[in-house]
Amino acid sequence: MTGQDETESALKLRDSAFSAMENAYAPYSKFRVGAAVRTSTGIIVSGCNVENAAYGEALCAERTAIAAAVARGMRDFEEIAIASESDTPAAPCGACRQTMSEFAPNLKVTSYAKNGKKVTWRLGQLLPDAFTSKHLSGRT
Ligand code: THU
Repeated sequence: MTGQDETESALKLRDSAFSAMENAYAPYSKFRVGAAVRTSTGIIVSGCNVENAAYGEALCAERTAIAAAVARGMRDFEEIAIASESDTPAAPCGACRQTMSEFAPNLKVTSYAKNGKKVTWRLGQLLPDAFTSKHLSGRT
């Protein structure tokens, strides 16, 4: 990808995350979040947070996006964009970091605030020394 294509694809991913945010079901927290993942073949799949009257059953946007992509047969992710209505780009929660790490340990994670602020991390920064399938196979 050239620099220009890279910027264009990042903006497209950002826009998909913001448009998924419009579908968020967040009547309890009133904190709407959207996320969009891009696969290595350039396909974008999005998700939003889905809350529940049983508060602890809330699903985060990042995990609904990843689950939707996996359900469509995609597991090779290059980047995830997160969009929220906060003034500060939202950092993904621990459970979402762990889910990302299952498929893409070095995923590029970019989070956008509504006011245009953004932060980009690599997943290795957000979740160093992750628990992985290697640990499971290390049992004696
Ligand atoms: N939430 C997300 O969807 N993603 C995040 O990265 C942080 C939190 C959701 C969960 C819940 O529906 C609401 O935001 C408030 O925590």
